[in-house]
Amino acid sequence: MHPITRRILNTYQEISRRKTFGIISHPDAGKTTLTEKLLLYGGAIHTAGAVKSNKITKTATSDFMEIEKQRGISVATSVMGFNYRGYQINILDTPGHKDFAEDTYRTLTAVDSVIMVIDSAKGVEEQTRRLMEVCRMRHTPVLVFINKLDRDGLDPFILLEEIEKELHIHTRPMTWPVGMGREFKGVYDLTQAGMRIFAPEKTAISEKMQWVEGLNDVALPGIIGEEAARKLREEADLIEGVYEAFDESLYREGYLAPVFFGSAINNFGIRELLDTFVRIAPPPAARQTRQRTVQPGEESFSGFVFKIHANIDPNHRNRIAFCRVVSGRFVRNKFYTHTRLGKQIRFSGPTSFMAGEQSLVEEAYPGDVVGLYDTGQFKIGDSLTEGEQLSFEGIPSFSPELFKQVINDNPMKSKQLEKGLRQLTDEGVAQLFIEQPGNNKIIGTVGELQFDVIRFRLLHEYAASCSLIPLNYYKACWVTASDKNTLEKFLTGRGQHIAWDKENRPVFLAESEWMLNVTRQAFPGILFHFTSELRPESALEN
Ligand code: G4P
Repeated sequence: MHPITRRILNTYQEISRRKTFGIISHPDAGKTTLTEKLLLYGGAIHTAGAVKSNKITKTATSDFMEIEKQRGISVATSVMGFNYRGYQINILDTPGHKDFAEDTYRTLTAVDSVIMVIDSAKGVEEQTRRLMEVCRMRHTPVLVFINKLDRDGLDPFILLEEIEKELHIHTRPMTWPVGMGREFKGVYDLTQAGMRIFAPEKTAISEKMQWVEGLNDVALPGIIGEEAARKLREEADLIEGVYEAFDESLYREGYLAPVFFGSAINNFGIRELLDTFVRIAPPPAARQTRQRTVQPGEESFSGFVFKIHANIDPNHRNRIAFCRVVSGRFVRNKFYTHTRLGKQIRFSGPTSFMAGEQSLVEEAYPGDVVGLYDTGQFKIGDSLTEGEQLSFEGIPSFSPELFKQVINDNPMKSKQLEKGLRQLTDEGVAQLFIEQPGNNKIIGTVGELQFDVIRFRLLHEYAASCSLIPLNYYKACWVTASDKNTLEKFLTGRGQHIAWDKENRPVFLAESEWMLNVTRQAFPGILFHFTSELRPESALEN
């Protein structure tokens, strides 16, 4: 075989065995526990408790230094990879802490599907709703795991209805719980028509769990009780009557979520989830650039930076840019084009961060994430290629919710302050808006914590001190209009509420929802957008 043909074939093989996904949930639903159990099944770790470090603990909310420390540790768990049934599975870690929600949104641009964890007692929660909005924007396939069935929770039918109504996605149960809490007997596998009997097993994978064939197995009532067996038969009938057969293509298009029930802490229901996941989850998908669609099977390498992590070692001001490989093959020490800077760069120490272990990457394929050591050349959204001028789309900024004006406390250090603000906002820590005239700087974030992060880092990394004065804004909306005159008129008419983002795009700073509505009515020709991708404003309104 010709070497080029062999290489292309090899790349195709590598692509088709990769599954890159994120686990998302409202804090405390069980994301960390599920991640850990998946790694346990994949043999990437051998004892429970090994990934707890990727979680920012609740007690640390007011202690920013503690959070930074934990974030430092979390670099190690940014990507967790394992092999399962011949598949290379990459889990991208998404911070659960609300103040880092924007990090999570961006990480979702680098996954091909997600598993959403829902606490059976709490149902759909605030973060679940927001994260689902982001998935919907990108038609990301979603698989749902309803967790903590070992505790009393909501009725499973009610949970499914809530998911459909609140998350605007169709559901299809794949397994079904029998009882809950103390009465939890196990899950019935609707696709294989068999029941796995619950046996709590916290630390290791238990393959000893009892399996009962079919609903009519005479042994069933003896094991789970007459009443539970009767109810299960009734509910299974109802499900088959109400729900259509699972349609994989609808799942892949992001319209239908298969739903699993279990208890992550007890290793229960995970095997069913994982087996279905590897069977149906999509391989690395094509990605849109401003110029064209890039297919993973293309020969030339391309990738984009979706996350930048700074200050892993406070003594060296190093940063790691996480690059998702989109097409071709990434090779260590080869020159690639940084398309925004038009510069050739090569990476001698690309790193993979796999479940706490760092290792040197010699080559990587679509779906993989490589950590690139960076001295400040990368911004979130930057693209790397083999020369072609491509810019990947869809790494949006989201309208911040908290705003503060930056006051320079030391005029001798204004250059450092400028530089620090620019670099930290390039990293995606927060967003920067500038009011003109006057060059007033406003920082916008989704959480109070980022303000502490910014002040601390400005002082320690750039020797710049500043005060941050709270501003009473409700949202910053990117504004567009179909013609220049309308836009000009608006920008002049509402001048005192206009600022400019770093790309020099106008942003309207609304003091309240009411004010936004009034302005919208006064300027019908103006479109207000809640993400910098300039999507329709409904996209992230809630
Ligand atoms: P998160 O990453 O989504 O924030 O959640 P995490 O996995 O840390 O789980 C949150 C809490 O829920 C943890 O308890 C965890 O042990 C518990 N949990 C996870 N899965 C299950 C389950 O299937 N059943 C039950 N009953 N509990 C579950 P914690 O007390 O907050 O922490 P820890 O002391 O157990 O570590």
